[in-house]
Amino acid sequence: MKFSNKHFMLLLLIITLLSSYTFSQIYTTEKVDVKVKELLSKMTLEEKIGQMTQVTLQVVSKVHGTKDQMHQIDDAKLEEAIKKYHVGSILNVFDVAHNIEYWHEIITKIQNIATKETRLGIPVLYGIDAIHGATYTKGSTLFPQAINLAATWNIELAKRSGEITSIETKASGIPWNFYPVMDIGRQPLWPRLWETYGEDVYLASKLGESYIKGAQGNDFGATDKLATCLKHYVGYSFPTNGIDRTPAWISERMLREYFLPTFEAGIKSGAPTIMVNSAEIDGIPGHANYHLLTEVLRNEFNFKGLVVSDWEDIKRLHTRDRIASTPKEAVRIAVMAGIDMSMVPTDFSFYDLLLELVKDGEVPMWRIDEAVSRILAVKMQTGIFENPYPHKELVKQFACNDFTNSNLQTAQESIILTKNEKDILPLSKNTKVLVTGPTANLLSVMNGGWTITWQGNEESLYPKEKNTILEAIQNKIGNANVKYVEGCSFDKAININEAITEAKSSDAIIVCLGEAAYCESPGNIFDLKLNDVQLNLVTEISKTGKPIILVMLEGRPRIITDIVDKSLAVVVGFLPGMEGGNAIADLLFGDANPSGKLPISYPKHTNGFTTYDYKPIENFDGNKYDPLWPFGYGLSYTTFDYSNLRLSNNEITVNDEIEVTIDVKNTGNRVGKEVVQLYLTDLYGSVSRPNKQLKGFEKIELNPGETKTIKFTLNKEHLTFIGLENKRIVEPGDFFITIKDITEKFILN
Ligand code: BGC
Repeated sequence: MKFSNKHFMLLLLIITLLSSYTFSQIYTTEKVDVKVKELLSKMTLEEKIGQMTQVTLQVVSKVHGTKDQMHQIDDAKLEEAIKKYHVGSILNVFDVAHNIEYWHEIITKIQNIATKETRLGIPVLYGIDAIHGATYTKGSTLFPQAINLAATWNIELAKRSGEITSIETKASGIPWNFYPVMDIGRQPLWPRLWETYGEDVYLASKLGESYIKGAQGNDFGATDKLATCLKHYVGYSFPTNGIDRTPAWISERMLREYFLPTFEAGIKSGAPTIMVNSAEIDGIPGHANYHLLTEVLRNEFNFKGLVVSDWEDIKRLHTRDRIASTPKEAVRIAVMAGIDMSMVPTDFSFYDLLLELVKDGEVPMWRIDEAVSRILAVKMQTGIFENPYPHKELVKQFACNDFTNSNLQTAQESIILTKNEKDILPLSKNTKVLVTGPTANLLSVMNGGWTITWQGNEESLYPKEKNTILEAIQNKIGNANVKYVEGCSFDKAININEAITEAKSSDAIIVCLGEAAYCESPGNIFDLKLNDVQLNLVTEISKTGKPIILVMLEGRPRIITDIVDKSLAVVVGFLPGMEGGNAIADLLFGDANPSGKLPISYPKHTNGFTTYDYKPIENFDGNKYDPLWPFGYGLSYTTFDYSNLRLSNNEITVNDEIEVTIDVKNTGNRVGKEVVQLYLTDLYGSVSRPNKQLKGFEKIELNPGETKTIKFTLNKEHLTFIGLENKRIVEPGDFFITIKDITEKFILN
């Protein structure tokens, strides 16, 4: 666009209008406020500080749970935590998932003490990481991880996974889920990439919003709903070197353009709690960042809920970051920056130190009252004041067939077919196949971290009745048609020669590669390239000349460029969850039609990661966006034809909406689902504009020969960006709308 000073004045006006978004706080009511004030007025300082203290279940346990040993609560320690330290919240497990009846026992015990044996009877808010389902309840419905949810591009499925996770978590007696992750996945090395909804702000916002709607409905205190927690506010996902919990350098503009909008979307959807970034940005640890925790979150976004620290991160301001010279100073900094509850989590040091700080006058009483009010308000709205006990009536729905079917559909739609030469897929059911590779016969590789245990890698604890890829293929085409040779582990050759021999007498080879399950720092890697041993398995088998179908199970896009040419088909499965084996078999043998699309750019090389919304300079003078497969990409067994892209106007002013329509036809001979993706390009701008940005999408199903007309409505919000003054603005000029490979221009006057 061409712009002048006059334009800028106009734009500043627009900015002001745009930045006065009203955030609907569906979770605060006057009634709750009155009750909170009344309760607060009766509380002692010790009781208040206790509410701000969160400890892990380990602190009140005497025996930790393992596969051979039943977890046991230590009654004396539990009483001490609740009666002496007045703890407001307990979290997680010690160390493996419990069965649902045991959860009922634990929660009942905790709430009996809290509500019947304390002066004010304030219930404990139990929180848990129910990341892709009720992670820590045995036998729960465990969905594909977030990166797969994003790959479905299906907001209904995201919503349903939220609904089902709430039902199963509440059936276990827990009203608070540390989820969804609203961090943006723009650093492929980061070991938590799979916990994100991918690299795009718009896609991640829509998926997160939908998940929250499913999880909370209009009232997260309803029996079958729970309180969500947006995490990890903000910038945690972008460590410069890709290693978990290491520094990010993110300018204010970049933060506002890419990292804050997903959190804003989550707040607008009513998430009542937020967890803080464990690492640091621009030299300021997340837990010490007053600007982000108070000025932005409270004053700009008007967030009214509670902010909880991440694991031990207040202490780490002293022990790790050295921005506090004592543990006490660390507590002061964090509380004054805006943290309401400390996930201490293994002792009561936070309680003792904060008490001293208040008595010394170093933390003012108003700050304690503010934090405790927020905590009490969330507690009241979860309904635990009325009924702190498990909702046993929900147990009958736990892991029911309907939930398993939703899980299977989600898994099917979350898997991406990225190559299918000679239409090798789908395979006919009388094909003689060799199944090989380290991810072929394990459930953990399809589920990843936060599954039964933190790391998700205790294969022996996985439910025997669920199918690995191998078992699902055997069920589908009969044992007689399937040979299995492991070939190699994740990093060592086992019996590659045997695999080659068996390959020679097979019609097709299904090679399943990827990563073992991991979570957080244990998942750090120093090279995105897949281990040579695994690459070699494909290289050696390819010498037989037999068709190879490569299946990748992985939490991040490991570099497989060297073996893609040696494979006729490639299926990127990421972490498709407990029904992943069945879903992959359905897709390989044509009982389901692939419809997943990449929510990240799949890199070709270990250097030069570029996201799809790259800047002009990234495509200039030899630079280029050259991924193995681009964002939004994925094949189907049918074909779709796009035509007739129309705009309601080719010239608009800033308050006009613009309607975009396009016809999509299924031109193949199978029913199929397609994701219609609308991209916007703002041609010129005072800040360099991305090549294109996703601004709309819809997943549709079409019968063979069927055509649907899809309509999108764009408004000024879609045209904004973070300008020179670090504020959201719109600049007049030329814009392009692209759907598939058709582009239309409009002008904003
Ligand atoms: C993770 C959080 C998680 C918390 C509680 C931390 O290590 O960063 O995502 O919610 O532990 O388990």
